[in-house]
Amino acid sequence: MNENLAVNGGAKAITLDQEEALRWPRLTEEDEQAVLELMRKNEISVSQEPMKLEKEFAQFLGAKYALAEVNGTAALYAALFVLGIKQGDEVICPSYTYWASAMPVVTLGAKVVFCEVDPKNLNMDPEDFRKKITPRTKAVIPVHLWGLPCEMDEIIAVAREKKIAVIEDACHAHGAEYKGKKMGTLGDFGFYSFQASKNLPGGEGGMLITANEDYYYQAVTLGHYRRAADLPERYSKYQHTCLGFKHRMSPLHAAITRVQLETLEEKNRIRNANIEKLLKALEELPGFEIYWPPSYIKRVYYENDIVYRGDKTEVPIDRLIEMLKAEGAVVRRDRYSLLHQQPYFVERGSNPEDLPVTREISEHVIALPTFPGDDGRLVEQYIEAFRKVAGTF
Ligand SMILES: Cc1ncc(COP(=O)(O)O)c(C=O)c1O
Repeated sequence: MNENLAVNGGAKAITLDQEEALRWPRLTEEDEQAVLELMRKNEISVSQEPMKLEKEFAQFLGAKYALAEVNGTAALYAALFVLGIKQGDEVICPSYTYWASAMPVVTLGAKVVFCEVDPKNLNMDPEDFRKKITPRTKAVIPVHLWGLPCEMDEIIAVAREKKIAVIEDACHAHGAEYKGKKMGTLGDFGFYSFQASKNLPGGEGGMLITANEDYYYQAVTLGHYRRAADLPERYSKYQHTCLGFKHRMSPLHAAITRVQLETLEEKNRIRNANIEKLLKALEELPGFEIYWPPSYIKRVYYENDIVYRGDKTEVPIDRLIEMLKAEGAVVRRDRYSLLHQQPYFVERGSNPEDLPVTREISEHVIALPTFPGDDGRLVEQYIEAFRKVAGTF
C-alpha cells in the first residue's frame, strides 16, 4: 500500500483554495452597472439592448444575421421551424450531447435519428452521419462538443450531396474556429446559448445565426412580433400575432452578455493555457488518451472532458476518480446521459443497445475543471496529483 496517497491517509497534493480559481461566471461591477443602467431607464422588457448584442455578436463571428433569442433551445426550434421540419421528417444528431440539441426536433413532430461520435474526439462521426441518412432526412445537427469544432468540411460535403440542411449547435463553442471561420457561420444555421455556465455567460439567452435573409425574417416572424412590423409585407402581416412564440431575449441578460463579450477571448485564452498545460502532462501518463485537434481547428474549452482508459491500466476509472478526489481534485465522470437511452426516446422506439461506439467511449470520460481564474498554480498542483496517483499504476 502506497501511504503517500491521500486515499491511504497521506498528505493531499492539492492544497490551494479552489473556489476563486474555479469560479464561473466571473461577473464584475461592469456587469452590475450595465444591468443597473437598464433598470434606471425602466428598460427591463422592451429595449434595444438585445439588438445591440446581435450587432456585436454578428461582428465577432463574421456572421450576416444574428437573432437574439430567449435561449439556445428556442434558437434551434426557430431554425427547424424555418426549414419546415415536420412529422415524417428525420433529423440526425449525436446521442452524446445535451438534451436541447435534440428535443426541439421532437416538439415539431419529427424523428431524431442518433448517430455515432468519433471516439478520438467525441464529436459527430461524419461516416456514421452518412450511414444514417434516409429519404426522410431533412437536417443534421453537428454539436461542437465541449468547444471542439466538428469536422465541418466532411459533414457539409455529405449534407450538400444529399441536400440536407446543416444546423450547427455552437452552444459550447464561443470563439472556436474551423479553417478561420467562427463556429455557427459554416452551416445553414448556427445557434448559441448564453446560459450562465457557458464561455459567454449572460445568465440566460441564445442567438440564432444565418446568412440567409429569408430564413432570418422567418425566424423573426416566428418569435418577435414587434419586430415583424418592420419586415417586408410577406412577414409583417403577422405582426399582431407572430407565428406562435415569444422568443425575445431579456434586455438584462443581453446587457450582461455584451459586457462578457468584451473579455471572451481573454477568458478563453486563460482556460486554454491552463488546460493545455495539464493535458500535456496527462498524455505522458498511462491510460490517458489526449486528443489534439489539427492546426486548422482552433478549439475552446467549455468543459475539460478527457478519455481515460482504465481498462488499459490497473486502475479502473471509478478508482482513479476516488484517488484524485482524495488528493483534493474536483473530478467526476462526464455528466451527459446518452440521449438514445433516455426513457423519452426508448418509449418512442429508440434501442438503448444501439450506437456501440458511443456507448463504449462514454464509459471512459472524466470531467476536470477548466481553471477559468487560475494563475497557473492550481493546475500545477493538479499535475502533481495526477502524477502521484499514476505512480501507483
Ligand atoms: C449542446 C447544447 N445545446 C443546446 C443547449 C441549449 O441552450 P439553452 O440552455 O440556452 O437553451 C445547451 C445548453 O446547455 C447545450 O449545452
